[in-house]
Amino acid sequence: ETGFITLDPGYVNTGSCLSAITFMDGEKGILRYRGIPVEQLAEHSTFKETAYLLINGRLPNRTELTQFSINLNDNSLVHTDLKVFFQNFPRASHPMGILSAMVNALRSFYPSLGTSEEEINITMTRLLAKVRTMAAMSYKISRGHELVLPRPDLTYCENFLNMMFDTPVKPYEIKKEVVRALRVFWILHADHEQNCSTSSVRMVGSARVNLYAAISAGIAALWGPLHGGANQAVIEMLTDVHTSGGNCRKAVERAKDKNDPFRLPGFGHRVYKTYDPRAKIIKKICDELLESMQISDPLLDIARELEEIALKDPYFIDHNLYPNVDFYSGIVLRAIGIPTNMFTVMFALGRLPGWIAQWKESTDDPHWKISRPRQIYTGNQQCDYIPLHAR
Ligand code: SDX
Repeated sequence: ETGFITLDPGYVNTGSCLSAITFMDGEKGILRYRGIPVEQLAEHSTFKETAYLLINGRLPNRTELTQFSINLNDNSLVHTDLKVFFQNFPRASHPMGILSAMVNALRSFYPSLGTSEEEINITMTRLLAKVRTMAAMSYKISRGHELVLPRPDLTYCENFLNMMFDTPVKPYEIKKEVVRALRVFWILHADHEQNCSTSSVRMVGSARVNLYAAISAGIAALWGPLHGGANQAVIEMLTDVHTSGGNCRKAVERAKDKNDPFRLPGFGHRVYKTYDPRAKIIKKICDELLESMQISDPLLDIARELEEIALKDPYFIDHNLYPNVDFYSGIVLRAIGIPTNMFTVMFALGRLPGWIAQWKESTDDPHWKISRPRQIYTGNQQCDYIPLHAR
């Protein structure tokens, strides 16, 4: 009668799960996909190969990788009716809202999902191939430009860049340093154990909806500024600091003010209580890309100064607040030419293989139950109904 019900431990579904996909150590700043350190994958792997690793649990041999490439290319075109779907969105629509709706719509165009291993593999490959094309398509439509189709002679990352930026009047020049930056960006975002959006994919998927609907839920969750929307929020914050005179100390002080809801975007993490290992890698990629492209971005200088001030600030030190993957990633995307409102779409494209892998791991679990977290009740004790005239 204390107002709480006693929860049987067996009932308490905290939303945690057993998983063999990604290992994180938040104290030591460790991140591994299927046991392989993300640093090694960023150095040696491709995004396509990392996607295969996450989904299938091991690196592909040459034959498997070639077949995976062929399957991705064979499924990279998008139904022309989907273009009509895109074109009817209000021009000011946020690309994440469009992407979530479009991915859900794929179920209408590809209704036969199947249950066999082969059919599930086709659906997963179709999703990986088409979402990349749809993202580039949404950009072209938003610019009122003709669509550019994927080419079998280009890699996964090269194709995306070409579909985004190639035009009849100015053919896009694929630069290896840009492809490398995009490859590493997507590898670093590919999975991150049970974060908000991945947990959403698992939770929605546990009701046995189709994969497209589960991924659409993950995209919706990632849109949030506390999650995948942070990379866009970082650039907006750095731009504000730049246009208001470059006072970095002011932004840090504002982030500490408990009366102000502002939190420094790109800093802090629920799991990492040290430097996000991805942030270290993306910061290096950022420096190398801007140098090779001879870009001098004032926002990078501001980001570096902000980081230096924050890392020495007692509040940030006491709260274990370090840069996370989003702090420098937006500057890389700016240098590549991605519009700010597509930054979170880029995160979603990177996270897609992780979401698919986590969904597949759930479906492979013979004891997979519908997700049903419980609560601790804090409401009224039992009471009686009061007729309207007596209230
Ligand atoms: C991603 O989960 C994942 O793995 C996510 C992700 C992935 O790959 O999927 O890594 C991707 O979402 C990275 C995080 C991107 N979001 C941001 O950069 C937004 C800014 N960061 C904060 O909002 C915050 O750090 C979170 C949301 C990331 C984490 O929030 P928590 O774990 O709930 O931490 P908290 O809000 O409870 O903060 C603990 C304390 C609080 O102060 P007190 O009330 O205890 O005094 O630290 C403070 C917070 O106010 N704090 C910050 C801060 N982050 C936390 N203060 C100022 N600036 C910040 N950025």
